[in-house]
Amino acid sequence: MPITYDEQHRIFTLNTRNSTYQFMIDSDGNLLHLYYGRKSDGFMKNFLHEQPRAFSGVFGYSQDSQASQDESHSLDYLPQEFPVQGTGDFRSPLLIVRDEFGTFGCKLRYDSHEIRSGKYALNGLPAVYENSGDNASTLEIILRNDRLNLSVKILYGVLPELDIITRSAIVKNSGHGKFTLEKLQSACLDFTHGNFDVINFQGRHAMERQFERRELLHGSLVIDSRRGMSSHQSNPFVILADHNATENFGRCWSMMFVYSGGFKAEISRDQYDQTRFQMGLEDEKFSYTLEPNEEITAPEVIMTFSSSGFEKISHNMHDCIRKNICRGFWRDKARPVILNSWEAFYFDISGEKLLEMARYAKKLGVDMLVIDDGWFINRNDELHALGDWTPDEKKLGMNLESLVKKINAIGLDVGLWLEPEMVSENSNLYREHPDWAFVIPNENPTKSRHQLVLDLSNRDVRKYILDSIFAILASTNVKYIKWDYNRSISEVYSHAAKNQGKVLYEYILGLYEILGKINAKYPEILIEGCSGGGGRFDAGMLQYTPQIWCSDNTDAIDRLYIQYGTSFAYPASVTAAHVSTCPNHQNGRITPLSTRGIVAMTGAFGYELDPAKLSEHEQLEIQAQISRYKSLREIITDGLYYRLSNPSENFCAWEYVSRDKREFLLNVVIPQNHGNMPRIYVTPRGLEPGKFYRNTSTGEIYASDALMDSGFALPVLRHDFESCAYLFEIV
Ligand code: DGJ
Repeated sequence: MPITYDEQHRIFTLNTRNSTYQFMIDSDGNLLHLYYGRKSDGFMKNFLHEQPRAFSGVFGYSQDSQASQDESHSLDYLPQEFPVQGTGDFRSPLLIVRDEFGTFGCKLRYDSHEIRSGKYALNGLPAVYENSGDNASTLEIILRNDRLNLSVKILYGVLPELDIITRSAIVKNSGHGKFTLEKLQSACLDFTHGNFDVINFQGRHAMERQFERRELLHGSLVIDSRRGMSSHQSNPFVILADHNATENFGRCWSMMFVYSGGFKAEISRDQYDQTRFQMGLEDEKFSYTLEPNEEITAPEVIMTFSSSGFEKISHNMHDCIRKNICRGFWRDKARPVILNSWEAFYFDISGEKLLEMARYAKKLGVDMLVIDDGWFINRNDELHALGDWTPDEKKLGMNLESLVKKINAIGLDVGLWLEPEMVSENSNLYREHPDWAFVIPNENPTKSRHQLVLDLSNRDVRKYILDSIFAILASTNVKYIKWDYNRSISEVYSHAAKNQGKVLYEYILGLYEILGKINAKYPEILIEGCSGGGGRFDAGMLQYTPQIWCSDNTDAIDRLYIQYGTSFAYPASVTAAHVSTCPNHQNGRITPLSTRGIVAMTGAFGYELDPAKLSEHEQLEIQAQISRYKSLREIITDGLYYRLSNPSENFCAWEYVSRDKREFLLNVVIPQNHGNMPRIYVTPRGLEPGKFYRNTSTGEIYASDALMDSGFALPVLRHDFESCAYLFEIV
């Protein structure tokens, strides 16, 4: 059993294939964290250091309780599982509660627990699910506060084969009064000792998920998004690692939030050099009053541990996202090669242009044409019409249904762009329902991309969105939706809500409800998530949209950095990447078409250009790229991914190894060439030891052990942005 409870010592142990997680109940009913690390037997109580400390408070429930007298047993420094404000622990808590009179504080005491087989699910929220053979188990622990009649159900999910442990919590009001949660987070990891680095993925629009590493010193480091979305600026995935950890050495722990709204990760080092790593909901605009019998669920955090560097963290997370977050019809299916109209025509589309595009696309081997923004009435710029989802027959030269039929007749599937959560001030929808947008009465609203956010916490709004989408899907043969979202939420005011502090959380529940209903009614429609590129690239969205547009930046060199950062948590199969034209529309860079192809072949592949403007030669090259991608698609989307260098070194190399290790694909790009460069050797990993592999391009044969030891000598690459990709087969 992956979860055990030792009654005598009151110790819980959670085991995965390679890790052990342990905590105990102390005599006051507090949950004290003991260990999360390499798989181990035994009890780790020795990690607790208990000694009297000045200014460290103690409490106990009974005068006879030893703990109540014991000055050496203080939550000021003891490691905890579910720290709460108002217990003498002055570090950052998971829970802050205020009663009806505004009093802060809430001590929690162990009440009961249950261990059961199977992974828990969460009501209305995405969560890791189990597949047969995963042998998942759930541990549920109830903590109580009698004064407030408040209970916390802490949930642990253990997926031993995946080396994954998940956490969530449900807070309930079982009394007659009410109280308000000012903060509710999902997971906390306390370390009694150690020197760590924090690795996070920061960015901005068109430059998302940049790898960043720093030493954790005293004080608190907050990695968060206050934007109502997981955001371009920081991704809800953070790694804590030993100072000396590398790709394949050292201990690392990661947390990922399965949620698409604001989040807060906090990593702090305290007075005794102890570290706390926690993650959960952003609390700035959160103030959640629980009326009698009401409850709230903290979104899930996925944790994994590696004793051998970042690579294992990535492999664990990739497998978990591929098979235990993504779900439904498209989970295991080869994704279509897409040609998208956005960078080709922007808003200036027409039926004729799209049909011509489709004819070219068919010749090139593309599977699907995606009609991006601009297809509905009045949508000729960013200023108008979001919310009014009526096709512009005049602009398209026919109704949408006929256009789709004509594209189908050419031999392509059709996808459609939508931005359902938004409304333009200049739209019929806003004129009819100004109270459906987040606008604080008597305040001038902040607009972003000239648009406002619809209040998805309001049931009527959700119904309108679903009705509009279902009407399109019922009448046209659309096989794919690009679900866009192009601004942050700044002001939060719902005309329908009684309590404004609940609205942001309920907005995200509303979003998941809508997406879940579309998935249920149209399981075969592929939804690609998008948010001005990769502004909502998170595991929450991935449960409903099994791929996400990685970035609006399609330049091959910038993408090396974006995709490098993305790869730490997210597998290639969910990362949409397209080849676009040159000079690149985002940064003006000119790169070889071959390099653009190699870089975009890191996941769900496609094109973002007008094929009519391509030369004969470019068309032939693209034809060859698409057929190469289709032959390599399986190793790319299902293989094990290895980062072989950091793109800020003088080369960027990455590798996919097939699950049976019979093939590996080596990719290299030179971001910047220099005079008289030293020869570059790239060292692959993860090959079958004691075997030989043939380079299928040159026929040359290499011993796997020597390759993994001393590397593969690249051909001489003479220019900036040059690249090469080789498929090797076992001999
Ligand atoms: C932002 C997306 O990221 C782009 O790909 C494109 O769909 C535009 N929105 C359309 O407005």
